[in-house]
Amino acid sequence: MAASSTGLHEAADALSPEVIDRHRAIVTIVEELEAVDWYDQRVAASDDEELAAILAHNRDEEKEHAAMVLEWLRRRDPKLDEHLRNYLFIDKSPLEREHELKAGGGRGGQHPATDGSLGIGSLCGEVTP
Ligand SMILES: [Fe+2]
Repeated sequence: MAASSTGLHEAADALSPEVIDRHRAIVTIVEELEAVDWYDQRVAASDDEELAAILAHNRDEEKEHAAMVLEWLRRRDPKLDEHLRNYLFIDKSPLEREHELKAGGGRGGQHPATDGSLGIGSLCGEVTP
């Protein structure tokens, strides 16, 4: 692997290509979200309305970038997929959701249907909210 891949915590030759690609994705997501934070602060601090609008536009594109890479990672990490399915796009508190899951609760009908690849939805009983 190229020496330019930084941030590995183990020797690259001890890692599979899949682990290294997931590392690339994770680092990228971190970078994109850091950029969101930087832009967000610059938007808030700028007194120039046009500059602030451009920076806000750029900030929001970084969110798109982060989401695209997160989706790539989700498709390759079954545990991450499980957690995202459990905790994203819910109305209740994530802590309440965790309690519900540990108590054997279902998805509460709050999630979109799965793509069927992991059958997560079918493993969780439906619970009326
Ligand atoms: Fe970006």
